[in-house]
Amino acid sequence: MKFFIILVLCKLVLLCYAKPQGQLGFTLKEESFNELFGYGDGSNNSAVSFRLPNDPNYIKFYLYRNPLDEDDRVEILLNDVLSLYKSGYNFSSPLKLLIHGVLSDSLTTHDVQAVKLEYLRAGTPANIVLVDYGPLTVSDLPFIFSTLSFLTVLVQNDLTNIVSERTAEFVQFLLTQGAVSGPGSIHIVGFSVGANIAGAVGRSIYSRTGKKPRRISGLDPSPQFPFRPKLEPTDAEFVDVTYTSLGKMSTFSTEGHATFFINGGGPHQQHCPNFMPFTEIYCSHTTSVYYFAKSIRKSTILGCLCRMPCLEPPDVCRLPVPYGENTPEKSRGNYYVNL
Ligand SMILES: *[C@@H]1O[C@H](CO)[C@@H](O)[C@H](O)[C@H]1NC(C)=O
Ligand SMILES: *[C@@H]1O[C@H](CO)[C@@H](O)[C@H](O)[C@H]1NC(C)=O
Repeated sequence: MKFFIILVLCKLVLLCYAKPQGQLGFTLKEESFNELFGYGDGSNNSAVSFRLPNDPNYIKFYLYRNPLDEDDRVEILLNDVLSLYKSGYNFSSPLKLLIHGVLSDSLTTHDVQAVKLEYLRAGTPANIVLVDYGPLTVSDLPFIFSTLSFLTVLVQNDLTNIVSERTAEFVQFLLTQGAVSGPGSIHIVGFSVGANIAGAVGRSIYSRTGKKPRRISGLDPSPQFPFRPKLEPTDAEFVDVTYTSLGKMSTFSTEGHATFFINGGGPHQQHCPNFMPFTEIYCSHTTSVYYFAKSIRKSTILGCLCRMPCLEPPDVCRLPVPYGENTPEKSRGNYYVNL
């Protein structure tokens, strides 16, 4: 309980005081709706531009190895063999690829950071690599404008493609170097839009290698938009999905091989304060990350088979399976998790 209150407060502070990276060079001179939302005439010198950069060079890949210092990370440069060897990447271990959501980047906010930290603390025998596409989702504008620019992420058509293609290219680099023995040793964990991106990475890996990644865990995937493909159960050999804010930040867009409805899947999670609408919604959304993180060292959190829409706990817990990281890959069905 305390854990959550503290996390929620941290999130609140982060959201309200988030002054993301300053390298994007926006100017604030005059306003018009179109220009505000990047639909202007393409000129970039006259107005607020909420169009976010789409340069794939902003996307970074960080290897984490130190459970005692969560900020201790080494960047692995795409197609740079020396940086791969120097990073300490273990060629004999599988790969866990973590993909954050929007309004976030891997260092300043906590979304997938919590998952990363639990893997490290658990001593999970895997290379924990974070995909950081933060600069493509946040601007250096003050918070409220940054939020507007976040909205443009929702309408931007190419975020999923840019990030997923770059990430698949990175995976291909690791495969070519023999750092990853095959797609069968890749587990991708994606939160929110990161889950949608994870699906696209899976499809791209398949089209590059003819093989699917072993597993994708989608944490409260964001809704499908015409230009933002959803996570599909066909994107990996095993796809598990966690829902925590159904009807708010997420919709029931993906039915995984195993789908977990935490406390009915939402829309509101009990640990989230409800005095500020946006914070409450975002908090419920983010709890998917903390529940998944918690499952890494705790295989006793169980899901019980439930009948859709799985809003209420079933009277009898049938065929329980461990929720989260320890879910057996042969699990099939919809599960209610009471937490
Ligand atoms: C946008 O800015 C860049 C760099 O400052 C410049 O080269 C380019 O011509 C500008 N584009 C337009 C349409 O003004
Ligand atoms: C690399 O991974 C393998 C398999 O998980 C493990 O046995 C070995 O100890 C690891 N090597 C290092 C240097 O951590």
